[in-house]
Amino acid sequence: MSISVVILAAGQGTRMKSSTPKVLHEISGKSMLFHALDAAQAISSDITVVLYHQASRIEKEILKHYQDIHFHRQDALHFPGTGGAMKGVQTQNTRTLILNGDMPLLTKDSLLALASGEADINMSVIKLDNPIGYGRVMIQDGKVQEIVEQKDCNDAQLSTQTVNAGIYAVQTALLQRYIPALDNHNAQSEYYLTDIIKMAVDEGKTVTPIYVAEEEFKGVNSKLDLAYAEEILQRRIKIAWMKAGVSMRLPETIYIDSRATFEGECILENGVSIQGASRIITSHIKTHSVIESAHIENSDVGPMARIRPQSLLKDSHIGNFVEIKKSTLHGVKAGHLAYIGDASIDEGSNIGAGVITCNYDGKNKHKTSIGKNVFVGSDSQLVAPLTIPDDVMIAAGTTVTKTAEKGSLVLSRSPQKSIKNFFYRFFGKQ
Ligand code: UD1
Ligand code: MG
Repeated sequence: MSISVVILAAGQGTRMKSSTPKVLHEISGKSMLFHALDAAQAISSDITVVLYHQASRIEKEILKHYQDIHFHRQDALHFPGTGGAMKGVQTQNTRTLILNGDMPLLTKDSLLALASGEADINMSVIKLDNPIGYGRVMIQDGKVQEIVEQKDCNDAQLSTQTVNAGIYAVQTALLQRYIPALDNHNAQSEYYLTDIIKMAVDEGKTVTPIYVAEEEFKGVNSKLDLAYAEEILQRRIKIAWMKAGVSMRLPETIYIDSRATFEGECILENGVSIQGASRIITSHIKTHSVIESAHIENSDVGPMARIRPQSLLKDSHIGNFVEIKKSTLHGVKAGHLAYIGDASIDEGSNIGAGVITCNYDGKNKHKTSIGKNVFVGSDSQLVAPLTIPDDVMIAAGTTVTKTAEKGSLVLSRSPQKSIKNFFYRFFGKQ
């Protein structure tokens, strides 16, 4: 099937109360608009995004991640409203699917259901106990007659519980005739896209209602909606990964980014947060650890560890209160309380409790490179740039500032002194 998609994203989104454009607000690590774009790309290669408010900011964001998307600027001053948004939009296929940029929960399957069939127009409708805020859909004999916006409804229309979810699949030729003919003679003095329904019905065209799930088609208008949408998406993401073999303890307490992936047998304990495009392979992530766009393979991490972006852990054991940033660890043990940043550490090396790579001199970041079988004693500071060759032992409490020979012991301690009976002189005899 070839169908074009138009995503309406020109609205201001005032109810978000934010300087960030509504459609750029993120759900599970990805902006709402990108969720909609991904669903659109799954069914079409001719996609147009309509923009107006903060258009260049949104356009720039899209161009960072997507190719071959068409942009259309709405003339919102002269033609406000969803119908105004469609003015001047050209699409390539005989059918056009119009959807809203603030619907992050759409799935490919639902869009395909809307796009299929022979009707002149398919439109998404939802049955709601509380229809407030939506356009009401008048249906007779299973065919849509008209959509009436809430502000234009009479009392009988207001009580209609069948509402417009805001997605339409329309014969492109009809759109090309109807959009220029829209007027703004309504309560909001806007150009309503919804008016094309009546135009089609008046010409004897068929408009088929496609009943859809509220959960998937609810638009996000406020921070509250955003939080609910995230909950729904999180549930979906976790169910999918559990079906794929990931074990989760108390899944309700776990967060997983929509871009994260798992392979092999992975275990996630409660309170774990997997952020960004993390890639986890056959690993055990323990309670309350935070993984940020990291690659973790055949390793165990946590509890309460933080693995930050551009880290690669393989065959390693990372314990509690260890922070790792932009580092590569192969076959390493770092059991407790350490900061490892801008480092590479090789097989068999052990990082003691309290070890810190001093990677920042206040101006620049520097690298630490640690070879195989290096034993870094507790509470050592490794002042970067620094290279430690294989088979080196660093004594506890050492500040390492220069490299050492393979096989050596490194220690920088002032000799220990004891002053006899000092305690009693100072505090007196107890
Ligand atoms: C619209 C429908 C309503 C439906 C509801 C479903 C119309 C007239 N009404 O109402 O029947 O129940 O969606 O959520 O279409 N947009 C633009 N340019 C504009 C105005 C809006 O691009 O000038 C975009 C918005 O960015 C948004 C979408 O169109 O993505 C819907 O706009 P919104 O203001 O939320 O429409 P509603 O008034 O909720
Ligand atoms: Mg509105």
